[in-house]
Amino acid sequence: MKLLHIDSSVRANSISRRLTAQFIEVWKRNHAGGDVIYRDLATTVIPPVTDDWAATFADPATLTPVQKAYLSISDELTAELLAADTIVIGSPMYNYSISAPLKAWLDQIVRMGKTFGISAGTPVGLLGDKRAMVITTRGGVYGPDSPTAALDFQEPYLRAILSFIGLSDLTFLHVERQMKPEAAIDFATAVAQINELAK
Ligand SMILES: Cc1cc2nc3c(=O)[nH]c(=O)nc-3n(C[C@H](O)[C@H](O)[C@H](O)COP(=O)(O)O)c2cc1C
Repeated sequence: MKLLHIDSSVRANSISRRLTAQFIEVWKRNHAGGDVIYRDLATTVIPPVTDDWAATFADPATLTPVQKAYLSISDELTAELLAADTIVIGSPMYNYSISAPLKAWLDQIVRMGKTFGISAGTPVGLLGDKRAMVITTRGGVYGPDSPTAALDFQEPYLRAILSFIGLSDLTFLHVERQMKPEAAIDFATAVAQINELAK
């Protein structure tokens, strides 16, 4: 059993990092012999996608050494994802959406022929049979009944792009009010939920 653990907060005193670590601790207790691959996106240098990304649509057998070198970070990140049975992503909300490191990672792992293919002109996700868990942290509140619900561009985007690559077994745990007086209450509730979810 392999778990890919991804952190994407740029903050040292990060709440999402504490919560993904909690998930991993419980998961390890429940999966003796399980293997955790850790990817910290705040310390991984991921170049932005450029025009050279067109190489991902070429026949792999025709790639030049320069193209192979360009794609090496994408190859590495994609291989980690493909190897995992379970994926846990810590995602802080920044400006109503995801952090730049997480976006940079997504740009590298949405990869033609590896994580999605085209069948009869329609994209098909290739990552079936994996379980994905996204723990989001937010300063405010974005639940369906809140006045700011429409400003949540984090879950809809992550749901869309992770589904695109075939991650349909997708669970979101939103840990809100982390910049409000109720922060500790919501954090404690999240820890209890994680203890159940990480089984
Ligand atoms: C650059 C930046 C932008 C943020 N934007 C939002 C936002 O749009 N909405 C919100 O509710 N909280 C926002 N916050 C608050 C964070 O979501 C909150 O501090 C959360 O705990 C961050 O996760 P972390 O502790 O793992 O870094 C922002 C924080 C930062 C640093």
